[in-house]
Amino acid sequence: MNKKLLGSLLLVIAVVLVGAGLWWTNAMKTEVRPDYLRAVYDPIHFKPAIDKATNEQCLACHAEVLSDKVRPTSPAGVKAADAKAWYQVVSTYTGEQDTFHRRHMVTDFSKSVMNMKCTTCHQGNDPREEAPGSSATALPQTTTDITLRKHVNPETVCLLCHGKFPHQVMGLPGDWREIRESMGNNCMACHQAIRTTRHQVNYLKAAEIEKLGSANSEVCYGCHGGRAWFRISHPYARNPWPGMSTEVPDWAKDRPTKSELRFLEKLARE
Ligand code: HEC
Ligand code: HEC
Ligand code: HEC
Ligand code: HEC
Ligand code: HEC
Repeated sequence: MNKKLLGSLLLVIAVVLVGAGLWWTNAMKTEVRPDYLRAVYDPIHFKPAIDKATNEQCLACHAEVLSDKVRPTSPAGVKAADAKAWYQVVSTYTGEQDTFHRRHMVTDFSKSVMNMKCTTCHQGNDPREEAPGSSATALPQTTTDITLRKHVNPETVCLLCHGKFPHQVMGLPGDWREIRESMGNNCMACHQAIRTTRHQVNYLKAAEIEKLGSANSEVCYGCHGGRAWFRISHPYARNPWPGMSTEVPDWAKDRPTKSELRFLEKLARE
């Protein structure tokens, strides 16, 4: 064969091979590149997978939830440190201003009394549910029906620790802030003996709460009225305690006698 011809033939083959190689690597790249929609609808967002999800699994995609920090100074020049809100004056509030997620999972105080998981609050995220009337069978709606759904149910989650101080059921004349001096500023004056089977749930550190709460009632009040987002309090289960009377007060007749099941499960991820 002609040497020149052989040379060009080899060149053509080389070009084809390199081209195919490049195409293949590229194809593989698209194959492994995370697909946005696939991630949005990742089964981990739904039941039953979400019940078994670990923080690490969620954070693999949502790391920013715990890494983002607030600006030390707002664009208008207000220092975060000078802009404390009413719920940030409970005496247990320490450290610099921080984000919502970090205040529940990362800051020193939150870690000392709580053991929250992503799934303690998040019980599923379906983008189709973020707007109303998005299912095929939904009836036509007027704009007045439109309320965006929330990612977390405030009533079954937030209310647990951000309800009003339930002074009525305690037979106390007013909110803790008004009457605490007359009670020696001490929840334990009564709660040494009453409703003592408490905080036996997987997102709270019961022993540490007792220790800190005995020394400073602000610890207790913090979750039971001190930063209340609601004008009601949570209808807590009345877990039987030693010395409990067999008579149930009227206000407690429809109360459960056991904490919510999903919070009792000893989670494998703990
Ligand atoms: C494979 C990656 C991936 C995993 C794992 C994952 N997510 Fe997501 N998630 C996404 C993507 C992508 C979106 C859509 C984000 C957007 O559009 O801004 C999303 C949306 C959300 C939203 C709604 C956010 C919004 O702004 O609308 C929440 C809440 C959420 N995820 C919580 C979780 C929780 C809790 C877990 C663990 C149980 C989890 N995700 C696991 C990728 C993931
Ligand atoms: C104390 C309850 C709570 C915990 C614990 C929690 N979240 Fe959230 N999360 C919320 C609330 C409330 C929102 C805002 C919901 C809304 O806008 O409807 C939110 C919003 C989000 C969003 C939307 C984007 C954003 O930053 O607003 C993502 C993603 C998310 N959470 C993921 C997570 C992951 C991952 C974890 C675990 C590391 C986690 N969350 C733990 C309550 C919680
Ligand atoms: C298990 C108890 C618990 C639950 C449930 C809970 N929180 Fe909190 N929350 C706390 C505690 C404790 C703090 C104070 C943290 C601190 O002082 O560092 C706090 C602080 C906050 C703050 C103030 C953050 C800041 O920057 O100072 C907001 C806002 C808040 N919670 C909203 C919510 C919402 C909304 C929900 C429901 C999605 C929720 N919390 C569920 C215990 C809880
Ligand atoms: C004067 C006594 C007294 C003091 C002081 C007191 N409590 Fe109570 N508390 C009670 C009584 C009584 C009940 C109801 C007992 C029952 O269920 O029969 C109660 C119930 C509760 C409940 C359950 C409410 C419900 O709806 O199930 C919580 C939570 C609570 N107290 C927290 C506190 C905290 C936090 C403090 C301090 C900031 C405090 N208490 C101080 C007497 C007191
Ligand atoms: C980090 C938030 C947090 C702190 C701090 C805290 N609590 Fe609670 N408390 C809760 C939650 C959440 C529940 C409901 C748990 C459940 O579902 O059983 C609860 C339940 C209770 C109950 C009802 C118990 C039952 O099951 O009958 C009493 C009483 C109570 N707390 C008193 C106190 C006292 C006293 C302190 C201080 C020593 C205190 N709490 C500190 C969050 C908190």
